[in-house]
Amino acid sequence: MVKLSIRRLGRALLATGATAALAVGMLTATAATSQAATQGPCDIYAAGGTPCVAAHSTTRALYGAYNGPLYQVRRASDNATRDIGLLSAGGYANAAAQDDFCAGTSCVITVIYDQSGKGNHLTQAPAGGAAGGPDNLANAFEAPVTVAGHKAYGVYVAPGTGYRNNHTNGIATGDQPEGMYAIFDGTHFNGGCCFDYGNAETNSLDTGNGHMEALYFGNNKSWGSGSGNGPWVMADLENGLFSGVNRGFNAGDPSVSNRFLTAMLKGGPNQWALRGGDARSGGLSTFYNGVRPNATGYNPMHKEGAIILGIGGDNSKWAQGTFYEGVMTSGYPSDATENAVQANITAAGYNSGSTGTGTLTPGSRISLQATTAPCCTSHYLRHNDADTKVVISAYNGSSPAIDKADATWIVRAGLADTSCVSFESANSPGQFLRHYNYQLNLNTDNGAGAFAQDATFCPTAGNSGAGTSFRSVNFATKYLRHYNYTAYIASNGGSNAWDSTNSWAADTSWLVTQPLG
Ligand code: AHR
Repeated sequence: MVKLSIRRLGRALLATGATAALAVGMLTATAATSQAATQGPCDIYAAGGTPCVAAHSTTRALYGAYNGPLYQVRRASDNATRDIGLLSAGGYANAAAQDDFCAGTSCVITVIYDQSGKGNHLTQAPAGGAAGGPDNLANAFEAPVTVAGHKAYGVYVAPGTGYRNNHTNGIATGDQPEGMYAIFDGTHFNGGCCFDYGNAETNSLDTGNGHMEALYFGNNKSWGSGSGNGPWVMADLENGLFSGVNRGFNAGDPSVSNRFLTAMLKGGPNQWALRGGDARSGGLSTFYNGVRPNATGYNPMHKEGAIILGIGGDNSKWAQGTFYEGVMTSGYPSDATENAVQANITAAGYNSGSTGTGTLTPGSRISLQATTAPCCTSHYLRHNDADTKVVISAYNGSSPAIDKADATWIVRAGLADTSCVSFESANSPGQFLRHYNYQLNLNTDNGAGAFAQDATFCPTAGNSGAGTSFRSVNFATKYLRHYNYTAYIASNGGSNAWDSTNSWAADTSWLVTQPLG
């Protein structure tokens, strides 16, 4: 019923050339009364005359009628693969299927299926001009969320991770018009090149200005920037991240860091626009809308029609970010259509997936209190601000907020074994507790298998009889320990000073508490 009314409205608007203002109001209102269960973003784009030609999501259906697979995972234990589908047609990802399939091992996302029917699936990116390959695949558990209360997982792009399709069908080429949107985690980014989603070269090489048209998100300032310190939504048009008409600075492009961020880009002959908004509420703001950049090579455009996720056109793979869903269209979507899509997105109900506090359930926020008496029972595990070291410090009710935040961790399913845990810093998204040379550090996940191993700890009953101990998944005799107020993994006797048997049991036993921050 609602679907029909939007379709009819879209045709009517096209036929009559109704004013943009009227279209904005009507489409937004119509979408606001519909829901993701019956309408997906791609139904709205189709009604507006700009159908999706690629539709990627690991969290939900992007068409009301879609009932196929969303993505495929591969588990480490036996390299078997499993498609992850929906709970119901037009609904949400069946995350429990992933949990079951990957129990006791780890999983990566191998395919992100195209829901548009065009077959534009995303798979492991090959080597390109800027970096070798194939790129890493995303850990399937590193970006947990809820959508309308249903558990789901996003695509966590650590540096080195990338997806691509160089043999697409129906994606804009040359100067043809197209639109696209993506939902990103606005708190997970860096300045590396280039966390992109969109149109790129079909040979993974930098073939020149104007050969790409992709959304970029991050705080890279090498080519362009907007107001504030970033991160910014920009357009990667090849050899340039554009925040507006100028190469370099454009004041109209704001820093945006919503936990769930809608980013939109569209481009046609001597015309393009950049828009964005909070994916949980409100409308879109227009960051730029006008002619092509005043630099050579971008008008007309030379789009090639490949699709990338998490990397630059030439496979530059130094960026990080998180992707939940995104589409590409044929044709230049109207602002009204995009506004209706944003209404659909906010109605979808993205949430951070936090499951509470004080427990070792993934998603829970916790702190870890030392148990060694008399020195350390008021001490908690924290990361330093001045360096990457992890230590224990004394806390009381009046400890500064920054110190409390530094001692707060988000429990994640173990990066190398889902029956164990990993600890992500609450105030440094994307950075995890990991051991290196047996000492604990807070480091950015680099997407490598060794990092996942070093960042995975298996909870056991406390070695002293109190609390919980955390056994290193790759050094079975070593447990998370404090020694001289610094954190290590340590065995009960061994060649390192921190393997001292003195107080080992107490030093390796921790209380899992409510989060300090
Ligand atoms: O345009 C920025 C980047 O420059 C592109 O993503 C990449 O192909 C080139 O290195």
